[in-house]
Amino acid sequence: MEILEKAPAKINLGLDTQFLRPDGYHELSMVMTTVDLADRVTLKEIPGNKIIVTSNNAFLPLNKKNHAYQVAHFLKNKYHKETGLHIAIEKNIPIAAGLGGGSTDAAATLRGLNRLWNLQLSKADLAEIGLIAGSDVPFCVHGKTAQVTGFGEIITPLKELPKMWVVLVKPPVSVSTAKIFQALDVSKVTHPNINALVAAVNAQDYSGIIENLGNSLTSVTKERYPIVEKIETKMKQFGADGVLMTGSGPTVYGLCQNYSRAKRVYNSMKGFCHEVYLVRTL
Ligand code: C5P
Repeated sequence: MEILEKAPAKINLGLDTQFLRPDGYHELSMVMTTVDLADRVTLKEIPGNKIIVTSNNAFLPLNKKNHAYQVAHFLKNKYHKETGLHIAIEKNIPIAAGLGGGSTDAAATLRGLNRLWNLQLSKADLAEIGLIAGSDVPFCVHGKTAQVTGFGEIITPLKELPKMWVVLVKPPVSVSTAKIFQALDVSKVTHPNINALVAAVNAQDYSGIIENLGNSLTSVTKERYPIVEKIETKMKQFGADGVLMTGSGPTVYGLCQNYSRAKRVYNSMKGFCHEVYLVRTL
């Protein structure tokens, strides 16, 4: 049997952290949503007892560093599955981009193995296991639109977003999330109003969402990668309703309610950057 799972990218409509916890992680308050740019994860039992990861993207680690491998290894050991497993990852989401690519592949692998091996685990169980591969995995297990708190493990579903278009622009740099968090001084950055953003999402208030987009990590990433600020400025000039860097970057997105406006922003950014996508929220 072969199982196919879609693994959508995520964007942060909001990301705030007020303090560094004693365990070395930052206490987070985020609003995240999924978009229709997705990897495809195919899972299949094979002869032998090894987990083999393959991908169409040569830059993806295929060893123990791969998040999908990590969660598959965990489930295989925990449920004593004496079988080989092939995880094929069709990569469409840019890597190290702030779009949760590795985390969503891990989440898709968890959902897929739950089906393949009939493990009967709940979403909450899968989300908890996902933490071994990264703090964005629990959100990716749940998907849709949610507030994410704690160090990434507490997921509170929010209302469906009003219809909108998302123009994603990934500059040609890769960002290490760990390095951005290490360089962050919470007393020196701007803190978005996450409560106001959550209220706007739950009221399905597009203007309120636009007004309250915000990311505490932006200034740290911009200092290292000035291209991020240039992209933000261009997207605003080209007419996006709201513009924000997602996660620790470097991808910047622009939101538009109107398709022709989104298309104009998309076409204009294409002339400026190689990796540009026009997608919808899910
Ligand atoms: O969990 P994940 O592997 O995605 O995190 C990457 C890095 O981001 C961590 O090693 C940590 O330095 C930082 N991080 C943090 N606080 C969080 C989540 C991640 O400081 N809540």
